[in-house]
Amino acid sequence: MGRVDGKVAIVTGGASGIGRATAEILAREGASVVVTDIDVRAGEAVVEGIKAAGGKAVFHKQDVVDEALWGDIVGSTVAEFGKLDVLVNNAGIAPGGPITEMTLAAWRNLMEVNVDSVFLGTKYAIPAMAASGGGSIINISSVAGLQGAPGLTAYNATKGAVRLFTKGVAKECAMGQTGIRVNSVHPGIIDTAIWGKMDASMQDSILPPSEGANAPDVEAIAQMVQVPMGHAGKPQEIAAGILFLASDDSSHMTGSELVIDGGMTC
Ligand SMILES: NC(=O)c1ccc[n+]([C@@H]2O[C@H](COP(=O)([O-])OP(=O)(O)OC[C@H]3O[C@@H](n4cnc5c(N)ncnc54)[C@H](O)[C@@H]3O)[C@@H](O)[C@H]2O)c1
Repeated sequence: MGRVDGKVAIVTGGASGIGRATAEILAREGASVVVTDIDVRAGEAVVEGIKAAGGKAVFHKQDVVDEALWGDIVGSTVAEFGKLDVLVNNAGIAPGGPITEMTLAAWRNLMEVNVDSVFLGTKYAIPAMAASGGGSIINISSVAGLQGAPGLTAYNATKGAVRLFTKGVAKECAMGQTGIRVNSVHPGIIDTAIWGKMDASMQDSILPPSEGANAPDVEAIAQMVQVPMGHAGKPQEIAAGILFLASDDSSHMTGSELVIDGGMTC
Protein backbone atom coordinates (compact mmCIF):
# COMPACT_ATOMS: atom_id res chain seq x y z
CA MET A 1 0.00 0.00 0.00
CA GLY A 2 1.39 3.38 -1.02
CA ARG A 3 1.61 6.28 1.40
CA VAL A 4 -0.78 8.43 -0.65
CA ASP A 5 -2.89 5.67 -2.18
CA GLY A 6 -6.07 7.00 -3.80
CA LYS A 7 -5.17 10.66 -3.29
CA VAL A 8 -5.38 13.20 -6.11
CA ALA A 9 -2.56 15.75 -6.35
CA ILE A 10 -1.66 18.81 -8.41
CA VAL A 11 2.05 19.66 -8.66
CA THR A 12 2.95 22.99 -10.28
CA GLY A 13 6.34 23.36 -11.93
CA GLY A 14 6.33 19.57 -12.25
CA ALA A 15 8.46 19.48 -15.40
CA SER A 16 11.79 19.89 -13.62
CA GLY A 17 13.78 19.60 -10.41
CA ILE A 18 11.87 19.41 -7.13
CA GLY A 19 8.45 19.43 -8.85
CA ARG A 20 9.41 16.54 -11.10
CA ALA A 21 10.78 14.48 -8.20
CA THR A 22 7.60 15.25 -6.24
CA ALA A 23 5.28 14.19 -9.05
CA GLU A 24 7.27 10.97 -9.44
CA ILE A 25 7.26 10.00 -5.75
CA LEU A 26 3.57 10.88 -5.25
CA ALA A 27 2.65 8.70 -8.25
CA ARG A 28 4.91 5.89 -7.06
CA GLU A 29 3.16 6.03 -3.66
CA GLY A 30 -0.29 5.66 -5.21
CA ALA A 31 -1.58 9.17 -6.01
CA SER A 32 -3.08 10.33 -9.30
CA VAL A 33 -0.92 13.31 -10.22
CA VAL A 34 -1.78 16.35 -12.31
CA VAL A 35 1.56 17.76 -13.46
CA THR A 36 1.46 21.37 -14.62
CA ASP A 37 4.15 23.65 -16.05
CA ILE A 38 4.81 26.24 -18.75
CA ASP A 39 7.38 23.82 -20.23
CA VAL A 40 5.11 21.47 -22.20
CA ARG A 41 7.73 19.18 -23.66
CA ALA A 42 9.47 18.46 -20.35
CA GLY A 43 6.14 18.21 -18.48
CA GLU A 44 4.78 15.66 -20.93
CA ALA A 45 8.01 13.67 -20.65
CA VAL A 46 7.62 13.52 -16.86
CA VAL A 47 4.08 12.20 -17.25
CA GLU A 48 5.18 9.61 -19.83
CA GLY A 49 7.87 8.42 -17.41
CA ILE A 50 5.34 8.11 -14.56
CA LYS A 51 2.96 6.13 -16.76
CA ALA A 52 5.76 3.87 -18.01
CA ALA A 53 6.52 3.07 -14.37
CA GLY A 54 2.86 2.09 -13.79
CA GLY A 55 1.70 5.35 -12.17
CA LYS A 56 -1.26 7.62 -12.91
CA ALA A 57 -0.57 11.14 -14.21
CA VAL A 58 -1.75 13.76 -16.68
CA PHE A 59 -0.07 16.94 -17.90
CA HIS A 60 -1.71 20.35 -18.24
CA LYS A 61 0.03 23.44 -19.53
CA GLN A 62 -0.31 26.14 -16.86
CA ASP A 63 1.26 29.50 -16.25
CA VAL A 64 0.73 29.78 -12.48
CA VAL A 65 0.18 33.56 -12.62
CA ASP A 66 -2.96 33.18 -14.78
CA GLU A 67 -6.05 33.22 -12.53
CA ALA A 68 -8.46 31.84 -15.15
CA LEU A 69 -6.20 28.83 -15.68
CA TRP A 70 -6.29 28.00 -11.95
CA GLY A 71 -10.08 27.63 -12.17
CA ASP A 72 -9.65 25.37 -15.20
CA ILE A 73 -6.92 23.20 -13.64
CA VAL A 74 -8.76 22.62 -10.36
CA GLY A 75 -12.08 22.13 -12.20
CA SER A 76 -10.66 19.61 -14.68
CA THR A 77 -8.85 17.74 -11.89
CA VAL A 78 -12.09 17.30 -9.94
CA ALA A 79 -13.97 16.41 -13.14
CA GLU A 80 -11.41 13.76 -14.12
CA PHE A 81 -10.45 12.30 -10.74
CA GLY A 82 -13.48 13.15 -8.58
CA LYS A 83 -11.71 15.28 -5.94
CA LEU A 84 -8.55 17.18 -4.98
CA ASP A 85 -6.50 16.08 -1.95
CA VAL A 86 -3.06 17.63 -2.41
CA LEU A 87 -1.73 20.84 -3.97
CA VAL A 88 2.02 21.40 -4.19
CA ASN A 89 2.65 25.07 -5.01
CA ASN A 90 6.17 24.48 -6.31
CA ALA A 91 6.68 26.51 -9.50
CA GLY A 92 9.14 29.31 -8.91
CA ILE A 93 11.99 31.37 -10.27
CA ALA A 94 15.09 32.84 -8.62
CA PRO A 95 16.57 35.72 -10.57
CA GLY A 96 19.32 37.42 -8.62
CA GLY A 97 21.64 40.41 -8.58
CA PRO A 98 22.21 43.56 -6.55
CA ILE A 99 18.90 45.14 -5.47
CA THR A 100 20.02 48.56 -6.76
CA GLU A 101 20.14 47.12 -10.27
CA MET A 102 16.76 45.39 -10.17
CA THR A 103 13.97 46.98 -12.20
CA LEU A 104 10.48 47.37 -10.78
CA ALA A 105 9.21 45.22 -13.65
CA ALA A 106 11.56 42.37 -12.66
CA TRP A 107 10.52 42.72 -8.98
CA ARG A 108 6.84 42.56 -9.93
CA ASN A 109 7.38 39.56 -12.18
CA LEU A 110 9.13 37.70 -9.37
CA MET A 111 6.30 38.55 -6.95
CA GLU A 112 3.77 37.28 -9.48
CA VAL A 113 5.47 33.97 -10.18
CA ASN A 114 6.54 33.15 -6.60
CA VAL A 115 3.77 34.73 -4.50
CA ASP A 116 0.64 35.49 -6.57
CA SER A 117 0.78 31.88 -7.79
CA VAL A 118 0.65 30.52 -4.22
CA PHE A 119 -2.27 32.82 -3.37
CA LEU A 120 -4.19 31.76 -6.49
CA GLY A 121 -3.53 28.04 -6.10
CA THR A 122 -4.57 28.17 -2.46
CA LYS A 123 -7.70 30.21 -3.20
CA TYR A 124 -8.92 27.75 -5.85
CA ALA A 125 -7.84 24.56 -4.05
CA ILE A 126 -9.57 25.26 -0.72
CA PRO A 127 -13.21 24.98 -1.91
CA ALA A 128 -12.40 21.84 -3.91
CA MET A 129 -10.61 20.21 -0.95
CA ALA A 130 -13.28 21.26 1.55
CA ALA A 131 -15.92 19.62 -0.66
CA SER A 132 -14.33 16.21 -0.03
CA GLY A 133 -13.59 16.78 3.65
CA GLY A 134 -10.02 18.08 3.61
CA GLY A 135 -6.62 18.07 2.00
CA SER A 136 -3.02 19.17 2.19
CA ILE A 137 -1.53 22.30 0.62
CA ILE A 138 2.27 22.36 0.48
CA ASN A 139 3.98 25.62 -0.40
CA ILE A 140 7.60 25.53 -1.47
CA SER A 141 9.44 28.35 0.26
CA SER A 142 13.23 28.20 0.81
CA VAL A 143 15.94 28.75 3.39
CA ALA A 144 15.79 32.18 1.73
CA GLY A 145 12.36 32.50 3.38
CA LEU A 146 14.06 32.11 6.78
CA GLN A 147 17.26 34.15 6.45
CA GLY A 148 18.78 36.78 4.19
CA ALA A 149 20.77 35.88 1.10
CA PRO A 150 22.91 38.59 -0.54
CA GLY A 151 22.13 38.87 -4.24
CA LEU A 152 18.77 37.18 -3.71
CA THR A 153 17.01 39.90 -1.74
CA ALA A 154 13.86 40.07 -3.87
CA TYR A 155 13.70 36.27 -3.79
CA ASN A 156 14.01 36.55 0.02
CA ALA A 157 10.91 38.78 0.01
CA THR A 158 8.90 36.27 -2.04
CA LYS A 159 9.87 33.24 0.01
CA GLY A 160 9.27 35.09 3.30
CA ALA A 161 5.81 35.97 2.00
CA VAL A 162 5.11 32.33 1.16
CA ARG A 163 6.20 31.30 4.68
CA LEU A 164 3.80 33.61 6.53
CA PHE A 165 0.97 33.31 4.03
CA THR A 166 1.14 29.58 4.72
CA LYS A 167 0.76 30.10 8.47
CA GLY A 168 -2.19 32.50 8.09
CA VAL A 169 -4.06 30.19 5.76
CA ALA A 170 -3.22 27.19 7.96
CA LYS A 171 -4.93 28.84 10.95
CA GLU A 172 -7.88 30.01 8.86
CA CYS A 173 -8.43 26.48 7.51
CA ALA A 174 -7.93 24.81 10.90
CA MET A 175 -10.29 27.15 12.74
CA GLY A 176 -12.87 26.74 9.98
CA GLN A 177 -12.74 22.97 10.60
CA THR A 178 -12.14 22.41 6.89
CA GLY A 179 -9.82 19.44 7.36
CA ILE A 180 -7.28 21.26 5.18
CA ARG A 181 -3.65 21.42 6.35
CA VAL A 182 -1.22 24.00 4.96
CA ASN A 183 2.56 23.75 5.46
CA SER A 184 5.70 25.20 3.92
CA VAL A 185 8.88 23.43 2.84
CA HIS A 186 12.26 25.15 3.02
CA PRO A 187 14.92 23.56 0.80
CA GLY A 188 18.56 24.59 1.09
CA ILE A 189 20.96 24.31 -1.87
CA ILE A 190 19.40 21.69 -4.14
CA ASP A 191 20.91 20.45 -7.38
CA THR A 192 18.31 21.51 -9.97
CA ALA A 193 18.18 23.54 -13.17
CA ILE A 194 17.10 26.69 -11.28
CA TRP A 195 20.71 27.74 -10.66
CA GLY A 196 21.47 27.73 -14.38
CA LYS A 197 18.49 30.01 -15.05
CA MET A 198 19.90 32.90 -12.98
CA ASP A 199 21.07 36.01 -14.80
CA ALA A 200 24.58 35.72 -16.17
CA SER A 201 25.54 38.81 -14.15
CA MET A 202 24.42 37.10 -10.94
CA GLN A 203 26.36 33.99 -11.86
CA ASP A 204 29.48 36.06 -12.57
CA SER A 205 29.30 38.21 -9.46
CA ILE A 206 28.08 35.84 -6.77
CA LEU A 207 28.27 32.23 -7.84
CA PRO A 208 31.58 30.38 -8.14
CA PRO A 209 32.80 29.84 -11.72
CA SER A 210 32.10 26.42 -13.19
CA GLU A 211 34.76 25.02 -15.47
CA GLY A 212 33.68 24.79 -19.08
CA ALA A 213 29.99 24.39 -18.26
CA ASN A 214 27.17 26.83 -18.91
CA ALA A 215 25.26 25.85 -15.77
CA PRO A 216 26.83 26.69 -12.41
CA ASP A 217 28.30 23.89 -10.35
CA VAL A 218 25.77 23.44 -7.54
CA GLU A 219 28.22 21.42 -5.46
CA ALA A 220 30.60 24.40 -5.61
CA ILE A 221 27.80 26.66 -4.39
CA ALA A 222 27.17 24.28 -1.48
CA GLN A 223 30.87 24.46 -0.60
CA MET A 224 30.92 28.25 -0.91
CA VAL A 225 28.02 28.76 1.49
CA GLN A 226 29.43 26.07 3.78
CA VAL A 227 26.46 23.72 3.98
CA PRO A 228 27.27 21.84 7.23
CA MET A 229 26.56 18.43 5.68
CA GLY A 230 29.12 19.34 3.02
CA HIS A 231 27.10 18.86 -0.15
CA ALA A 232 24.06 19.99 -2.11
CA GLY A 233 20.75 18.21 -1.69
CA LYS A 234 18.99 16.17 -4.35
CA PRO A 235 15.44 17.02 -5.51
CA GLN A 236 14.34 13.59 -4.27
CA GLU A 237 15.37 14.57 -0.73
CA ILE A 238 12.92 17.48 -0.85
CA ALA A 239 10.24 15.36 -2.50
CA ALA A 240 10.48 12.88 0.40
CA GLY A 241 9.49 15.67 2.81
CA ILE A 242 6.68 16.79 0.52
CA LEU A 243 5.39 13.20 0.40
CA PHE A 244 5.26 13.19 4.22
CA LEU A 245 3.23 16.42 4.26
CA ALA A 246 0.92 15.09 1.53
CA SER A 247 0.30 11.84 3.41
CA ASP A 248 -1.83 11.19 6.47
CA ASP A 249 1.41 10.60 8.41
CA SER A 250 1.46 14.38 8.98
CA SER A 251 -2.21 14.54 10.03
CA HIS A 252 -1.59 16.80 13.06
CA MET A 253 0.76 19.20 11.23
CA THR A 254 -0.40 22.54 9.92
CA GLY A 255 1.33 25.91 9.65
CA SER A 256 4.69 24.18 10.07
CA GLU A 257 7.99 24.83 8.32
CA LEU A 258 9.71 21.69 7.11
CA VAL A 259 13.37 22.68 6.68
CA ILE A 260 15.47 20.34 4.51
CA ASP A 261 18.79 22.12 4.14
CA GLY A 262 21.74 19.95 5.21
CA GLY A 263 22.04 22.04 8.38
CA MET A 264 22.34 25.48 6.71
CA THR A 265 19.99 27.27 9.10
CA CYS A 266 20.47 25.37 12.35
N1 LIG B 1 16.94 24.34 -6.20
C1 LIG B 1 17.11 24.98 -5.03
O1 LIG B 1 18.25 25.09 -4.54
C2 LIG B 1 15.93 25.55 -4.29
C3 LIG B 1 16.12 25.96 -2.97
C4 LIG B 1 15.06 26.49 -2.27
C5 LIG B 1 13.82 26.60 -2.85
N2 LIG B 1 13.65 26.20 -4.14
C6 LIG B 1 12.30 26.36 -4.72
O2 LIG B 1 11.85 25.10 -5.20
C7 LIG B 1 10.91 25.32 -6.25
C8 LIG B 1 11.29 24.46 -7.44
O3 LIG B 1 12.55 24.88 -7.92
P1 LIG B 1 13.58 23.93 -8.68
O4 LIG B 1 14.89 24.12 -8.03
O5 LIG B 1 13.02 22.58 -8.85
O6 LIG B 1 13.65 24.71 -10.09
P2 LIG B 1 13.53 24.26 -11.60
O7 LIG B 1 13.89 25.44 -12.40
O8 LIG B 1 14.26 22.97 -11.83
O9 LIG B 1 11.96 23.94 -11.76
C9 LIG B 1 11.01 24.96 -11.68
C10 LIG B 1 9.87 24.65 -12.63
O10 LIG B 1 8.89 25.70 -12.52
C11 LIG B 1 8.45 26.02 -13.83
N3 LIG B 1 7.93 27.38 -13.86
C12 LIG B 1 8.61 28.54 -13.77
N4 LIG B 1 7.78 29.59 -13.91
C13 LIG B 1 6.53 29.06 -14.07
C14 LIG B 1 5.25 29.64 -14.29
N5 LIG B 1 5.07 30.97 -14.35
N6 LIG B 1 4.19 28.80 -14.39
C15 LIG B 1 4.36 27.46 -14.34
N7 LIG B 1 5.56 26.85 -14.18
C16 LIG B 1 6.62 27.66 -14.05
C17 LIG B 1 9.66 25.83 -14.71
O11 LIG B 1 9.31 25.67 -16.09
C18 LIG B 1 10.31 24.60 -14.11
O12 LIG B 1 9.85 23.42 -14.72
C19 LIG B 1 10.92 26.82 -6.54
O13 LIG B 1 9.81 27.43 -5.89
C20 LIG B 1 12.21 27.29 -5.91
O14 LIG B 1 12.18 28.64 -5.54
C21 LIG B 1 14.66 25.67 -4.88
